[in-house]
Amino acid sequence: MAYNLLKGKRGIIFGALDEKSMAWQIALKCFEEGATFTLSNAPIALRMGKINELSAACGNAVVIGADATSLEDLENVFTNSMEILGGKIDFVLHSIGMSPNVRKNIPYTETNYDNFLKTVDISALSFHKVMQSAMKLDALNEWASVVGLSYIAAQRTFPGYNDMSDAKALLESIARSFGFQYGFKKKVRVNTVSQSPTKTTAGSGVAGFDAFYHYAEKLSPLGNASAEECADYVVTLFSDLTRKVTMQNLFHDGGFSFTGVSTELVEQMMLNK
Ligand SMILES: NC(=O)c1ccc[n+]([C@@H]2O[C@H](COP(=O)([O-])OP(=O)(O)OC[C@H]3O[C@@H](n4cnc5c(N)ncnc54)[C@H](O)[C@@H]3O)[C@@H](O)[C@H]2O)c1
Repeated sequence: MAYNLLKGKRGIIFGALDEKSMAWQIALKCFEEGATFTLSNAPIALRMGKINELSAACGNAVVIGADATSLEDLENVFTNSMEILGGKIDFVLHSIGMSPNVRKNIPYTETNYDNFLKTVDISALSFHKVMQSAMKLDALNEWASVVGLSYIAAQRTFPGYNDMSDAKALLESIARSFGFQYGFKKKVRVNTVSQSPTKTTAGSGVAGFDAFYHYAEKLSPLGNASAEECADYVVTLFSDLTRKVTMQNLFHDGGFSFTGVSTELVEQMMLNK
């Protein structure tokens, strides 16, 4: 059911690769709620992904290629988006993450530092770069909303998550630090949403993903949140109904983050003793 929560709003959605992507589901939901927006992803992802299908499903949303580590590319996304959409931007989704160390199965304790720097640049500093570009071009309207996607490995250790844990901790810190600056300067909100494990290309690349997907499902009172449910939540953060929420890391995980253990898991442990 649509509520027209984003009627008249203009946005930019970074990171939709295929229909499993969180950004894909968020784009569909933003369109359903009345927004117009551009889509952006790395040039290689545009060649290999299916973004044109998403564009067609979202009123032929214009696709703009950008490597999110390049300030020049990001400035181009903001300049073009304002021109295409006919004004300043009301919401931005940062749904970008990649770790070459995770991809190459390099253990955390034997990390390759060039890879580590790439992880941090792509998965965390790009969030800063997106906002720095927007601020430089004065591309956001007052009360605009910027959301990045995070994971609880920023607070607690999940060994397979590797250097992405450190990148997520930095991402959440950037949301606070930039949110403070942007709030005073332009009343712009900045938050991260810490999402349940979700079966996407980036998610499934993490070692032991299936095990911790099922573990989280069993531990969470409400079960894991799906990408579609994440989209519902993010739409509320882009809407005018959450105008005083900023600098937060918001858990969207069915209660996982505040659960110690579940009866089902205790019973299973007892059986396996
Ligand atoms: N899947 C999960 O379990 C999960 C849980 C919590 C948070 N997240 C976060 O959600 C976000 C989206 O990931 P997803 O799970 O939808 O997977 P995904 O693989 O569909 O999306 C990741 C996106 O990052 C893009 N990207 C990578 N390098 C880039 C670059 N240099 N420039 C621009 N874009 C680049 C990819 O092209 C891709 O579209 C990530 O930040 C991820 O860490 C995922």
